[in-house]
Amino acid sequence: MRNNPRHAIGVFDSGVGGLTVVRALMERAPFENIIYFGDTARVPYGVKSVETIARYATQIAEFLLQQDVKLLIIACNTMAAVANHVVKELSPVPVLDVIDAGARSAVAGTKEKRIGVIGTLATINSNAYARAIHQYDPSIKIFSQACPLFVPLVEEGWLDHKVTRLTAQEYLRPVLAEHIDALVLGCTHYPLLKALIKDITGPKVNLIDSAESMADITASLLTEKNLRSFDINQPQHQFYVTDLPLRFQGIAERFLGRALPRVEHIKW
Ligand code: DGL
Repeated sequence: MRNNPRHAIGVFDSGVGGLTVVRALMERAPFENIIYFGDTARVPYGVKSVETIARYATQIAEFLLQQDVKLLIIACNTMAAVANHVVKELSPVPVLDVIDAGARSAVAGTKEKRIGVIGTLATINSNAYARAIHQYDPSIKIFSQACPLFVPLVEEGWLDHKVTRLTAQEYLRPVLAEHIDALVLGCTHYPLLKALIKDITGPKVNLIDSAESMADITASLLTEKNLRSFDINQPQHQFYVTDLPLRFQGIAERFLGRALPRVEHIKW
């Protein structure tokens, strides 16, 4: 039985970035069991072809479905942008993705109806954010910019480094010239650059981070489908990665502010 409230929510990403969604979920839905999958051996996805990303997304979704998850959350913007339909087609359980969550928050967060979107090359080339935002309000003007150097800079830990600042100034100049009042951080890694980006955009631009909106949407969907867990026993959180888990474990513990149980290594 897949529609069992005690079954876990499956959350997946190309690496560690999707933990932003896990953290928000743990706060918003504290009784839920969660299985997280980070494809740490094959990250980054953002510079790969649509075919490759779709193949990886399929493999991960099938793995999580074998663990009997009751819901799938695509926490990776790149996978959500180009492989959302592939995952939805194969999944017997509901599938939520960060792009829809980000789009809803962005629409709520703009008064001027001028939104900037930044993301990986694959996400920006797919135009997925513009499509998702226009579903809610076709009159909104969207200005997109791929920021391919951000992921390696974040992975390097250069969150407040002059190289990152210069890179961000360069990337953001054209979108800021369009007088946007909201900027979608359309990549799992970008919320880690929030402070630096805010310095460049100034206070008038609303930075949209989809993780919290994702947690709210998840909680409503579980309630609507009678899938919400009310089991007050300690929820189980399982983590699977495709590279050796040591580095992931350290980052994840810092990120989630708690010790992790064993992180399993999946050898694909
Ligand atoms: N998780 C990806 C995203 O949100 C960023 C890292 C990658 O390129 O794989 O777009």
